[in-house]
Amino acid sequence: MKDLIKKNKIKVGIIGLGYVGLPLAVEIANKGAKVIGFDISKKRVQQINKGLSIISDVTSADLRKLTRKKRIMATTNFKQLKLCDIILICVPTPVDENKEPDLEPVISSAVEIKKNMRKGQMVILKSTTYPETTEKVVLPILNESGFRVGQDFYLAFCPERIDPGNKRFGVENTPTVIGGVTKKCTELATLFYSKYISEVHAVSSPRCAEMTKLLENTFRNVNIALVNEFAQLCERMGGIDMWEVIEAAKSKPFGYMAFYPGPGVGGHCIPIDPYYLSWKAREYDFHTVFIELSARINEEMPYFVVNKIMNELSKSGVCPSKAKILLLGMSFKKDISDLRASPAIKVYQIIKPEVGVVKYHDPHVPSFRVDRSIVKSVKLTKTELKKYDAVIILTDHSVYDYGFIIKSSKLIIDTRNAIKKRLKKVKKLGAG
Ligand SMILES: NC(=O)c1ccc[n+]([C@@H]2O[C@H](COP(=O)([O-])OP(=O)(O)OC[C@H]3O[C@@H](n4cnc5c(N)ncnc54)[C@H](O)[C@@H]3O)[C@@H](O)[C@H]2O)c1
Repeated sequence: MKDLIKKNKIKVGIIGLGYVGLPLAVEIANKGAKVIGFDISKKRVQQINKGLSIISDVTSADLRKLTRKKRIMATTNFKQLKLCDIILICVPTPVDENKEPDLEPVISSAVEIKKNMRKGQMVILKSTTYPETTEKVVLPILNESGFRVGQDFYLAFCPERIDPGNKRFGVENTPTVIGGVTKKCTELATLFYSKYISEVHAVSSPRCAEMTKLLENTFRNVNIALVNEFAQLCERMGGIDMWEVIEAAKSKPFGYMAFYPGPGVGGHCIPIDPYYLSWKAREYDFHTVFIELSARINEEMPYFVVNKIMNELSKSGVCPSKAKILLLGMSFKKDISDLRASPAIKVYQIIKPEVGVVKYHDPHVPSFRVDRSIVKSVKLTKTELKKYDAVIILTDHSVYDYGFIIKSSKLIIDTRNAIKKRLKKVKKLGAG
């Protein structure tokens, strides 16, 4: 295995070709290794083989270069796992309706690997999950093959840190953490990753690597909740602009890191991962108070934003139940199209029965499905903007021309501080 990695003669299998798996496949293939991508979605496999990327961090042109040369090929046939020297598991780790971990995709991936296992393979779990998943869920399944870990096959956990839409940090220049089941597993996984990633930080066990990822995401969740609570207090007190407070706090060169309020948290990670940890902690009679508290505050934010919209409408003399409102930006963060757990969708659902008309615009989201209906983005023209009693900025995409939006709108509620100027018709979240 060492030689194969050093000479870059490895064939890498990637299970799950989404926001994590596809950029990784492209990075690995660009550096010369062959990649076979596995997915249960026939549609996704067909799109990838045609060189069509649906992930904003990967252009179709870049993907096509690799699929044409057969450096990347995708399949739903898991028997081809046999052909791979290294297999990366990048499948979703959602929570169910009771906010409990749903490890079915990880388990079924491990079962497919076991069924097609051969001596000398290395398996790396990348999906975010609770500590002990690698050793207590994946390893027992792979052990059923009869092969021995650390000798016949290798197993490690390596959390994913990709930040979709981030132009500064991508796969290559974001350091990674690796914890193998045995020393040899860590050594080989580190050797493999060092080929693609600028800095690899090895830890003593998969448990430690799994916990590291959860610390990083819980840290974000808790700090976002903290500023959201401050924003609520600023609203209550009046006369203090939370955004000005954050800018001032940022002038401290040590001991402070800026986080920003908003309509809530979204995506596949921040609102979900902490639940994996709180669920696991309960097994040890331990209650993760910070996680519960931050979830409470962050999940409350879309309701808080809707209340603010209703109040501002009333203050401007518009009866909320008859108001026409336009939401700007539906994805969960700027400049991407990802709608998963987006607080903007939540705002849409909460406000729809309360007002006369609600429409949206998002340059990255032509339409979305909610409550069994499909909603389409409207055009952002002067005439369109003039139709609404209020325009609500929920996601501050860079392409928005805020000068134009200000000029053409009657009232704006800005939940992201997208508009820096203090204007009478712009009401900012967290600024009373
Ligand atoms: N999206 C992010 O920014 C991000 C960042 C860091 C970590 N993660 C973690 O990475 C993992 C993957 O997330 P993602 O955002 O890439 O998900 P995704 O939904 O974008 O992609 C997952 C892909 O896996 C496929 N899939 C589902 N079940 C499968 C199975 N049993 N076998 C094979 N393929 C299967 C899906 O069809 C889909 O194409 C999750 O654990 C997530 O928490 C995501």
